[in-house]
Order: sequence, then structure tokens, then C-alpha cells
Amino acid sequence: MHGFYHQNGELWCEGLPVREIAEEIPTPFYLYSYRLIKNNYLAYKEGFREINPLICYACKANPNLAILKILANLGAGADVLSRGELLRALKAEIPTSKIVFNGNGKKKEEILYGLENDILMFNVDSRQELVLLNELAGKIGVKARIALRVNPDLDPQTHPYLATAFSKSKFGIDLKSAEDGYEFAVTLPHIEIIGVHVHLGSQITKVSPYVECLEKLLGFLVRLKEKGFNLEYVNLGGGLGIVYLDETPPMPQELAKALGPFFSQVEAKLIIEPGRSIVGKAGILVTKVLYLKEGGVKNFIVVDAGMNDFIRPTLYGGYHRITPLVQNEDGEITADIVGPICEEGDFLGRDRTIPRPQPGDYLAVMDAGAYGAAMSSNYNSRPLLIEIMVVNDRSYIIRKGQSLEEMVNREIIPEVLY
Ligand code: LLP
Repeated sequence: MHGFYHQNGELWCEGLPVREIAEEIPTPFYLYSYRLIKNNYLAYKEGFREINPLICYACKANPNLAILKILANLGAGADVLSRGELLRALKAEIPTSKIVFNGNGKKKEEILYGLENDILMFNVDSRQELVLLNELAGKIGVKARIALRVNPDLDPQTHPYLATAFSKSKFGIDLKSAEDGYEFAVTLPHIEIIGVHVHLGSQITKVSPYVECLEKLLGFLVRLKEKGFNLEYVNLGGGLGIVYLDETPPMPQELAKALGPFFSQVEAKLIIEPGRSIVGKAGILVTKVLYLKEGGVKNFIVVDAGMNDFIRPTLYGGYHRITPLVQNEDGEITADIVGPICEEGDFLGRDRTIPRPQPGDYLAVMDAGAYGAAMSSNYNSRPLLIEIMVVNDRSYIIRKGQSLEEMVNREIIPEVLY
């Protein structure tokens, strides 16, 4: 068995009962399945076999070095958004020829870091960024390979915070201006145009927005070709959704099938940047029950993980299944499962009916591998969590917990305050 599954009344990760890990590691902690990450990546590789894209894992979903290393070993590239993400990709030995740099707000130092490392390309989000990139490339005597990020103006049918392709979105350049953008880019001596980038949004559960996007892109690329631009790469961003509750997202091979006809018309190499669909289901958050509060208008299960550790429920109303590590026979309880943070928005699940836990019992917040640890913070001065990975039925620490001292020792009280 791989990934997370129930067996003999317990939740398992690969060949280990998660309880065994929870009895050794202080909660809360994130736990990942190596094999599931690998299999999710291979599902892309296999599903897209005929198109043979460059798969650039979107580091933002989960940038842990061990996760990047698994993907590097499998031949993946990386989509990075900051110097920090680029540093991580380099440390994991992802070849620079497979790294794309995204983002609408790249700073000078970030661009220089990418140029110095000779990454495959920058996905440029504005004309001013293009000018800066040209200037910096000129200064250090290199050519910057670029794609323009275009905004196709369509509805990817996802949460508003995750939809990035509406015309009012802050991302990308509208198709008309992008044509002008390419004509401008070709006049810049330190810029080499090699592609086009588009990213529709995240947690997309249908193929149709991708197809609509490609239809729009096809006309655009034909017009560019007529003007003499022959783009080597078409980068279709990430975005494929996963099942949190009852969604029915397409599998990679279904997406590949829908994209096939487009790529038989356009001679370009496809780049995809999946994040969530590689790591989302391969991680859980393990937390311990502290208290049960019953008898009021609502019941509450108070646990030791909060919105600082895992913010998706609070920020997006994200639904994550919550399940005890060990099933007991104490009947059921319907309750809000809440953390210790001093905010009413601090919850992991609302109105959940689960087997009644006792203080000290463990719960797992499922499907937390993407945008979980990656978005955690020190709010309420709570240290960042430990991350564990099960590899071949053994568990390994892949990030140490942050000590209280590490959390505060970068702060300085100026002499004058003494
Ligand atoms: N490429 C670009 C340019 C992106 O902006 C993103 C995600 C991806 C690829 C990866 O998309 P994915 O395959 O993971 O859907 N924090 C939110 C998700 C934000 C997504 C940001 N961009 C959440 O927890 O749902």
C-alpha cells in the first residue's frame, strides 16, 4: 500500500501506523509519503508521455528540500518565485536548464540571481520588468531567455483567490498588449524570446478552462508566427485540482488528452508547473486533542495545531477531512475542530462529525501536503513545525522543529530602550 490509508482501525502511512510516529514526535507535525509524491509525479510523466513536457514542480506548494530532491531524482524541473525558492531548487540539484522563474514582482536581486545561475527562462509579467531584465542582463553580459506571461481573460471556476486569469487579475499581460510586448522585447539586445506563459489559477477541477485557454492561445500564437515569432515553449502553468471532499478533478492523462490536439498544431515544447497535484494528497498534519468543550450551543474539539500551522481552512474556507489516527468505540461527536490561536477564524474544520476523541488522542488533517507547511507562520509566537517523511517504511525528519530560541534570536532590543 502507498500513501495514507486505514487498516485495522488505524491510519497508516506506507508501512507504518501514523500513531507510532505520533508517539515519538511532539505534535503538531507534518507527515509526508515519499512514495505518493513519486507516484504523483510519475502520473504526470506517464499521462503526458506523448507530449513529453518539461515538468517544473511549483516549489511554492511545498518547498522542503527533501521533496525537491525526490523530484530532482525523477528528472523534474522547478518553477520558482523568489531567491529563496531558487536557492532551494539549486540545493536539491535541479538542473538550472530546467528552472523557470515566475512572479509579478521580481526584485533586482532576484533577477540577478536567476541570470547568474543561467536558468532556463524568466516568465515576465510586465513591460517594466522586461526593461529591467534587459538592463541587468546587459550589465552582466548575458542574454535573458524569456516568456511573456499572458492573461487570457477566462474563468477557471475556482476560489476567487486562486483564479489568476481574469482580465482584472494582477497577473499577466492581456493578449493584445502581449503582442506589442513581443514586438518590444525583440528590440531589446539582451533579451531572447523563447516562449509564452499562462497560468489560469489553482485547484482547477475541469479540463474546459484549459481547452478554452488553448483556443485563445492558438489564435494568438498564429498571429505572432505571422509576425515572425516562433515560440519554442508554451508554458501552461499548474493548477490541476485534487480531491479534498467530493471534487472530481481530471487526472493528468485526461488533461494531456485534451491538450494533445493543440500540440499537434503548434510546434512547441510544453512546460507544466504542477504543485498541489504532486504533494497535496501526500501530506497530513498530525495534531493532538487538548480539550473537549461540550454543553454550549456548539461543541468544540480543541487541538494543538492552529491557523499559524495550517491556514487553508481559515484563508480559503478550504475543506480538509479530519480523521482520528486510531478509531475508538466511544460513539460520535459533532463539533468545530479548533486550534489554540486567539482568533475566532482559527479552525481546522467546522461542524464535523467524527468518532469522539479523548484528550491526548491524535487527529490527522488530511491532504495538507500542499500550501500547508509552506504557508505556516510564527503567529502567536508559535514555532514552525517539524516535518517527517516516510521513505520505504522508515520515518525521517526532513525539517527540524524551530526552537523558541531560534524564533526570537533575530530580534534586537536597541540599547536606547534599556
Ligand atoms: N505556476 C504558477 C505561476 C502559480 O502561480 C502556481 C500557484 C502554480 C504554478 C502551481 O499551481 P498548483 O499546481 O499548485 O495549483 N495557497 C493556495 C494556492 C495558491 C496557488 C498559487 N500559485 C491554496 O492553498 O490553495
